[in-house]
Amino acid sequence: MLKHYTINISLIHIAVGISMAVFGVALLFFAGIFSLAPQSTHIHQAMAQPVGDFPIPDAMRMFTNNTALIKRFSLDPYILDMAILPKSVVAGQSALFVLNAFHKPTMTWLWHTDYSIYITDVKTGQKLVVFPNLHGHGGMVQFEYKFPSAGPYNVGIIFGQQTGSPNFIVEPKVIRQINIPVNVAAAQSSPIPKGAHVEVIPIKVQSWKFTPNIITVKRGDIVRLVFTTAQDEVELYNGHGFGIEGYNVNVFLLKGTQQTIDFVADKPGTYTFRCTSFCSSPEAALENHFNMTGKFIVQA
Ligand code: CUA
Repeated sequence: MLKHYTINISLIHIAVGISMAVFGVALLFFAGIFSLAPQSTHIHQAMAQPVGDFPIPDAMRMFTNNTALIKRFSLDPYILDMAILPKSVVAGQSALFVLNAFHKPTMTWLWHTDYSIYITDVKTGQKLVVFPNLHGHGGMVQFEYKFPSAGPYNVGIIFGQQTGSPNFIVEPKVIRQINIPVNVAAAQSSPIPKGAHVEVIPIKVQSWKFTPNIITVKRGDIVRLVFTTAQDEVELYNGHGFGIEGYNVNVFLLKGTQQTIDFVADKPGTYTFRCTSFCSSPEAALENHFNMTGKFIVQA
């Protein structure tokens, strides 16, 4: 699973790298035709700006404090913005980390950031996993990890800004390092009570919508959401998320898979659910991710 995920990221970024290289060569070509002076520096800067006037999709915009652990670290002149989902990490269950690097003075993405990540079990000192090189095409990367058991862990993150085009090697010009303590809780078994009503709801997930986007259940129901996540063509992300604000529900939905979650609809009311994993691509509107929302209605 972990291996597959890492390879997946590498392939995506190789593909992106090739298309960026082609695009860059095309730009240089046209710059050469239409202007007398070589403009390679300017061309690089033009590509390093955020798309249009879209705000940076920082953790506060992508997630809510109900569903994610949101932190922001100031590492002058940079900011590392981070969200961990779910808010309380549980042993044996996937935790999704979303890291975003900004340039603080301009509040723009630190484009082409490389991240090196290692996770250490604090009790034993054992280094459990290393992502030697995750490349953020923008300033963002995300990875999924299942902590094997309860207890304190350290998530060490080294990130650096590359200059020039991405070459997928951590050899950046500027390096910052940070250690993030993560306390992993023991898994709790929640057996479904005998005789409880299980409301099974299939949900189709695709870029960029949930179908249905209104879910109605009765208070006390065991809600079983069966997600089928499309293998979309969009290249820059690995899947979507599903989180219900005000409910302790949040899952990462890997593209091309089916996943099921159960929970008890114990609070009546109308709640917003939304995609909790950044999924817009520069080729489309950045707002696509933020528009993946719906209503979860629990009738009293
Ligand atoms: Cu789908 Cu964010």
